[in-house]
Amino acid sequence: MATLPLYLLLTSIFLLSLFPTRFAKVPCHADESFALMEFKRSFKTNKTDWRCIHPKVHSWSLDGSGDCCSWDGVKCDEVTGRVIALDLSSSCVLGIMSPNTTLFRLVHMESLNLAFNNFNFSPIPYGFGNLSRLQYLNLSYSDFSGEIPHAISQLSELISLDLSCSWSVPLHLLNMGNFVHNLTGLKELDLSYVNLSSPIPPILANFSSLKLLRLSSCGLNGDFPVSIFQLPNLEVLHVDGNSNLFGSFPKPHWGSPLKSLSLYLTNFSGEIPTSIGNLSLLRSLPSSMGNLSHLTDLELDRNNLQGQIPVSFANLTQLSVLWLSNNNLSGDTLEWVVNFTKLTDLHISGNRLSGGFPSSFENLKQLRRMGLSLNDWYGNIPSTLWNLKDLEYLYLDSLNLNGTIVASDLFKLKSLEELYMFDSHISFTKTFINATSPKLAHLYLASCNLTEFPQFIGYLSKLVQLELQHNKIRGTIPRWMWNNNRESLEYINLSNNLLTGFENNQTDLPLPKLRYLDISSNLLKTTLLIPPPLVEHYDISNNVLSGEVSTSICEVRYLIMLDLSNNTLNGTIPPCLGSIGPLEILNLARNKFDGIIPRIYPDGCALRMMDLSENQLRGIVPRSLANCGMLEYMNLGDNQINDTFPFWLSKLASLKVIALQSNIFHGPIEENLSQFNFTSLQILDLSNNNFNGELPSKLLKSCHAMKDIIGQDMSPYLSIYPSLNLSYGEIITRMTYAMTLMNKGIEMEYAKIPNVLVGIDLSNNTFEGFIPELIGDLKSLRMLNLSNNCLNGTIPPSLANLTVLESLDLSWNNLVGEIAQQLAGLTFLSDFDVSHNHLSGPIPRGTQFDTFGSSSFAKNDGLCGSPLPNKCTNGDNVPPPPSSFKVDNKDECLFDLDWRIVLGGAGGGFLVGIVLENLIIDKKSRWFSHYSKKMVKGWKR
Ligand SMILES: *[C@@H]1O[C@H](CO)[C@@H](O)[C@H](O)[C@H]1NC(C)=O
Ligand SMILES: *[C@@H]1O[C@H](CO)[C@@H](O)[C@H](O)[C@H]1NC(C)=O
Ligand SMILES: *[C@@H]1O[C@H](CO)[C@@H](O)[C@H](O)[C@H]1NC(C)=O
Ligand SMILES: *[C@@H]1O[C@H](CO)[C@@H](O)[C@H](O)[C@H]1NC(C)=O
Ligand SMILES: *[C@@H]1O[C@H](CO)[C@@H](O)[C@H](O)[C@H]1NC(C)=O
Repeated sequence: MATLPLYLLLTSIFLLSLFPTRFAKVPCHADESFALMEFKRSFKTNKTDWRCIHPKVHSWSLDGSGDCCSWDGVKCDEVTGRVIALDLSSSCVLGIMSPNTTLFRLVHMESLNLAFNNFNFSPIPYGFGNLSRLQYLNLSYSDFSGEIPHAISQLSELISLDLSCSWSVPLHLLNMGNFVHNLTGLKELDLSYVNLSSPIPPILANFSSLKLLRLSSCGLNGDFPVSIFQLPNLEVLHVDGNSNLFGSFPKPHWGSPLKSLSLYLTNFSGEIPTSIGNLSLLRSLPSSMGNLSHLTDLELDRNNLQGQIPVSFANLTQLSVLWLSNNNLSGDTLEWVVNFTKLTDLHISGNRLSGGFPSSFENLKQLRRMGLSLNDWYGNIPSTLWNLKDLEYLYLDSLNLNGTIVASDLFKLKSLEELYMFDSHISFTKTFINATSPKLAHLYLASCNLTEFPQFIGYLSKLVQLELQHNKIRGTIPRWMWNNNRESLEYINLSNNLLTGFENNQTDLPLPKLRYLDISSNLLKTTLLIPPPLVEHYDISNNVLSGEVSTSICEVRYLIMLDLSNNTLNGTIPPCLGSIGPLEILNLARNKFDGIIPRIYPDGCALRMMDLSENQLRGIVPRSLANCGMLEYMNLGDNQINDTFPFWLSKLASLKVIALQSNIFHGPIEENLSQFNFTSLQILDLSNNNFNGELPSKLLKSCHAMKDIIGQDMSPYLSIYPSLNLSYGEIITRMTYAMTLMNKGIEMEYAKIPNVLVGIDLSNNTFEGFIPELIGDLKSLRMLNLSNNCLNGTIPPSLANLTVLESLDLSWNNLVGEIAQQLAGLTFLSDFDVSHNHLSGPIPRGTQFDTFGSSSFAKNDGLCGSPLPNKCTNGDNVPPPPSSFKVDNKDECLFDLDWRIVLGGAGGGFLVGIVLENLIIDKKSRWFSHYSKKMVKGWKR
């Protein structure tokens, strides 16, 4: 063509247009072009829709010849001129599809593709049933919703049907068996994400033409019909994401020419062929899969597969995608993979593969994504790895790797975008660097035993995310680190190192795109670094920062989380801190702040967690905190706040933790308000103040969360999930409240507060009067401390209703009467103190009471019996221990949860703090990492 003289070309075009009728096909019928135009008119176009590629209907017009057969996306029969195909996929169509749309007048249509448009949640109209000649129908990802009409199942000519949707716009189908019954000619069926909530109809195993079957995430349950594997033409089978679908692999032969198999997140298991001699069912990969030598895509991740990867896998040399991650597979070699020359994706993370790190990668020249993380390998990284020049994602974390990596080797990987190597013992050589991996954006080198910043970081010009936490990097943070990445860095985590400051004492970071900055748990001895203006998450806690906090911190106005706790900052808290709009988490605990608490919290204040404990704050609790309707956690403990009880917090329906301990709060609690509404409250600590008057019965009565033992929340731990939107994905930060329990002088640290933790500490005040009976209604109480008050009257027997109570302290009061025998029924009670009262009578016997020492009962007027030395006289009738108590039911016991002893200490009570974890969800891949950021931050007194 290129050599054809131009004039010749022009001539032939000229000729074509001169004799149109000779070359053109039969024009379309007026009724059909009208129907199409009507269809066009009934919709809008949305060019910003993510699915939109090209609005084909724009070319449609009745002007001129009006020949619809020439319109974009329309195809007519050459002989009859009838419209037989319409392809409007990704055509930016927006609007409701009416049940009587003129589309259904195109009854000669054989192929209709409306995929990737926005039909705005319309139901799929019944009228599709009119298009009885349809062989191909694709309505996928077009935001249809509701029930799939039965009419579609009458389209008996159908060869290909794609109704897959997105999880956010659900379609459902009542009876899949009936639906497919007459569609026996189907070669392709895709109903992914359609809610089927049923087993796979066995009739599908008769669909001998079926080449493609996709039923991903359909809520399938029951058994997968094993005969589907034997369909003679099946090439693609995806039933992943159906966690209640059970299946096993056929043995010994697979009938079908399967090319792509995706079963991740299902419940498939396999049977080891009987020839091996063991008949027992094992969840394993059957060696018969080695027969599938033409398989190109195998996705079996996130199942429960166990056992060795069969040797026969070496036969699967046509594989380009292999996902076996997150199973329980074992084996000590990757040899079987050496001849997989077409492999682009290899994911075997999260198994129990062991032995030396695999060494032969020569043949895997196409490999682009490799995940070997979380296996039991060890040793050096073989130099052949650096020959995989097309690698984009390399996940090698948690593999016991060691050795020195030569930076110039690493930078042979010119396409590398993500490198995960955390949990290794590696170091990097310092060499002359003349080239880098120009695309490297995500570098995860946490917990690598690094002692200095790798020199090459300063050369990475596309770096977005830098994770160097939990290393042993000492000294100052050098400026050269930001030499080339100023315009790209969004996320930095340098926490848990030995950093002492910034080079040249320059406490600013020249990183205008930064969103996340964590330098917590270092040895920084500087003043407070004010982060760049777009930072949303700033944590510099657990350092030795000193000096005042400048009001310019409030110029960082997108802050969601600010944690300056555990430093020695002083001066007043900048008043503007209460007014940072998006701020959800404010932690200034354990510093030397004085002055008053910031007073202004705007309407719609987003605060959820506020910890100002252990400072020297004065004044009152600011009343405008009542604007913070999301507040869940408020800790003002260990300050010098001089106020009455902030009863107005009762407005805050989410409030779960109120901690006002060790201040100068005073006065009675209930005089100002007749009704309280602390519905969600779980932890109330008012200890060490000057409260007086009666115990707050009305307040306690309103604590509905304390009355329910089960089902308070979806998550088992008290947590909040602030999220962070970075350019590459979403990071969800989970903050879990932690707790430290002082129990008999031992401090026990719980990394998480179970939702079931409910505690009240009103000790060391001057409350008087009776202990109200209604405390017995707070059935989920685990801890109750009323010690050191002036309470009188008796111990209400209703306390025996607190069946999960673990710690009860009523010491140092003026209580009289006997200890009700029913209290011996509290089988979880492990800490009990009624000393220094005027109690009398026999000490209950049985279960937990037999384990308490005499100090629990000391200094009472008339108590008798074990463990006290004075025996009860005849008149004291000690009843026998009840026989029906369960003593072995330890599952629910808080003290049995995962805990570790931290320090010996004095005093009683419990301490609450927070733990941070990051969940990183990377939009690009199914990679999902999860690591705990730090342990406890306590709440001490
Ligand atoms: C067009 O699509 C964009 C992106 O999906 C969406 O935000 C916008 O609301 C849509 N416009 C209309 C009118 O629905
Ligand atoms: C479809 O029905 C609606 C009302 O049911 C009517 O207003 C509209 O004109 C009809 N459209 C066509 C193309 O018949
Ligand atoms: C299948 O088609 C036949 C004949 O058209 C019809 O009688 C029958 O009801 C259909 N079955 C189902 C389940 O739709
Ligand atoms: C490997 O495939 C060949 C044919 O492609 C087959 O004959 C052989 O049995 C297979 N080996 C194993 C171990 O499955
Ligand atoms: C890989 O291919 C070579 C050459 O065809 C062959 O000798 C070797 O046995 C194969 N390795 C495996 C593990 O199948």
